[in-house]
Amino acid sequence: MRDGTLEVRMPLIELKNVSKLYGFGDATSVALDEVSLKIDKGECVAVMGPSGSGKSTLMNVIGLLDHPTHGDYLFSGKRVSRLSTNRRSRIRRDKIGFIFQSFNLLGRLTALENVALPLLYGGYATAKRNQASRAMLERVGLHDRCYYYPRQLSGGQTQCVAIARALVNEPEIIIADEPTGNLDTESSRLVMELISEIHKSGNTIIFVTHNPELTRYATRVVYMQDGIIKHDEATKLGEVGHYVSKFMYKVPTASEEDDLAGVSALMKIRPEEKPAPAKKSKKTSTKRRAKRKTKRKAAA
Ligand SMILES: Nc1ncnc2c1ncn2[C@@H]1O[C@H](COP(=O)(O)OP(=O)(O)OP(=O)(O)O)[C@@H](O)[C@H]1O
Ligand SMILES: [Mg+2]
Repeated sequence: MRDGTLEVRMPLIELKNVSKLYGFGDATSVALDEVSLKIDKGECVAVMGPSGSGKSTLMNVIGLLDHPTHGDYLFSGKRVSRLSTNRRSRIRRDKIGFIFQSFNLLGRLTALENVALPLLYGGYATAKRNQASRAMLERVGLHDRCYYYPRQLSGGQTQCVAIARALVNEPEIIIADEPTGNLDTESSRLVMELISEIHKSGNTIIFVTHNPELTRYATRVVYMQDGIIKHDEATKLGEVGHYVSKFMYKVPTASEEDDLAGVSALMKIRPEEKPAPAKKSKKTSTKRRAKRKTKRKAAA
């Protein structure tokens, strides 16, 4: 309440009973089934769920890459579910940054040119484009890779260029569909730290992941199944979501840890610590003696 007036906080994203159907007749598949979801400015939402549960479809609808079949979508309070292609692409260009699993950089352009692309579409002059793109590559730690082509960069570096491209036009919201899906553990951590930094500087982030560990970077986890939101929970930064840790992520029990430790200990035996060869058992010697006796008898 300010000056006696009631301040109404508008969600940045609001989906109302949104459905997305593919195909028709008997071959219809329901990718989203009456999904309602509100996301406020400044949230960092992790979207999880099995393969085919509708996560990418949800990202495409939120990112205005795809129309919902039914339902309403309000972006910053404005109804955008039925906008023309042109108006949708303008909102995408000005307000949304995308990061995809497969990086989606253009191979014949340098890192700098790739980052500058959204500004080129925005009609900015070359000098302004280069200056902003260079600054963005510096922010993601790649100032010395401006003139490298994507094929000359590691997976982690390529994704950092994609992040720089997503940020260059200062979008309100970043949508990342499995941004670490093609990366090793160390590069994933680097990319997530970067996304987390962007979140801390005030951006709204929605990212899809199959890795429960990465929900530590989120303030909320939305869990999807069969096109619906099965669970939605607020989480603390640095912690794995409760629902996720209960149903999807098995922390090793003490005895399993002991077993694992035992296995590793076995693997680590050094040559000089090799156990002495086992003594021949009495049983074997007796057997051998009996064999020799039979042989002697047969020879006689
Ligand atoms: N273009 C399309 N045409 C027909 N069906 C589609 C299309 N895109 C998605 N689907 C279907 O919609 C459902 C949801 O797909 P979606 O890609 O959103 O799943 P997902 O949760 O992102 O899966 P994954 O974790 O494997 O990426 C699936 O059953 C899929 O087959
Ligand atoms: Mg997907």
